[in-house]
Amino acid sequence: MFKALILDQQEKKTIAEIRQIDESQLPEGEVLIAVEYSSLNYKDGLAITGKGRIVSQFPMVPGIDLAGQVIESKDVRYQAGDNVILTGWGVGENHWGGMAEKASLKADWLVPKPQALSSKQAMMIGTAGLTAMLCVQALIDAGIKPESGEVLVTGASGGVGSVAVTLLAQLGYKVAAVTGRVEENGQLLTQLGASRIIARSELQVPARALEKQLWAGAIDTVGSNVLAKVLAQMDYNGAVAACGLAGGFDLPTTVMPFILRGVKLLGVDSVSCAYEKRINAWQRLVELLPESFYQQACREVELEQAIESAEAIINGQVTGRIVIKL
Ligand SMILES: NC(=O)c1ccc[n+]([C@@H]2O[C@H](COP(=O)([O-])OP(=O)(O)OC[C@H]3O[C@@H](n4cnc5c(N)ncnc54)[C@H](OP(=O)(O)O)[C@@H]3O)[C@@H](O)[C@H]2O)c1
Repeated sequence: MFKALILDQQEKKTIAEIRQIDESQLPEGEVLIAVEYSSLNYKDGLAITGKGRIVSQFPMVPGIDLAGQVIESKDVRYQAGDNVILTGWGVGENHWGGMAEKASLKADWLVPKPQALSSKQAMMIGTAGLTAMLCVQALIDAGIKPESGEVLVTGASGGVGSVAVTLLAQLGYKVAAVTGRVEENGQLLTQLGASRIIARSELQVPARALEKQLWAGAIDTVGSNVLAKVLAQMDYNGAVAACGLAGGFDLPTTVMPFILRGVKLLGVDSVSCAYEKRINAWQRLVELLPESFYQQACREVELEQAIESAEAIINGQVTGRIVIKL
């Protein structure tokens, strides 16, 4: 028997509880993994609290991320004892995920854990960190260089935001961090590498079609009116990597930034991202994230605390990354 966080539904409400289950209850898969760590992402918060339609069938083990050791494998690419990472692919949404001591997964979904990272560090990065790296890469591919000008990061004290601030600063970009928690998190964001902090309230007012040009690049985790404002403030030929909806999934904008300033809006998805792109992103994360990131921006909780942490992430109260020890 082993421990799992199980989501079930009663009268259309999601109920989350820790249960003891056995291996025969796990879904079919090619690789059986002893999970060492999972992590808490915004999507896990939506799944566990039931506040977003994330889970396709119940009962479900949440956890879109996990790192652990292979127990047995039917696939030649993995053997017992290998250390692996899983992020995305609908795990924790329509296939039992990382918030259990064991998981049974498809080999195609896994990547080998880079040797330079512990399982815990890999989960301190997790989906949020991988997504931040994909956003940074999207800006680089769009030709945004450190000398192009300032790069804005919204939702900066969250998981994606805090890694994005750190990565951009490590690459030599001048970073402006947008946060709704200036007092609480301004100092941390400065330590991670932001050169100035902007109050979220400045961007939550309705945008004109075009405003003063301020940003060479932007990474947006928030969507809605904040993203609309950012688009209106982009430099000529600027680029925005958009990955999130923490402020809403609408986008009340106009075509003006695109047709008059050549602004590029780059969509970023980490869930179904191709294997080669993942491997490259993990390698870059290993190279770029300083030890101070893991010490300053990450916190460990037990599986029992995942439920209250899920509430906190949905209420915008989590700073940085939370890893869950199995
Ligand atoms: N496309 C993908 O593959 C992908 C992957 C990972 C995550 N995401 C999405 O990216 C977003 C961030 O994920 P995360 O795991 O980093 O979540 P998170 O840790 O909760 O970070 C989100 C941050 O957004 C800000 N925020 C919260 N509520 C807000 C609101 N109502 N209006 C404006 N800002 C608000 C907060 O930062 P401040 O307090 O600093 O303002 C919060 O810390 C989520 O929408 C998530 O679904 C997408």
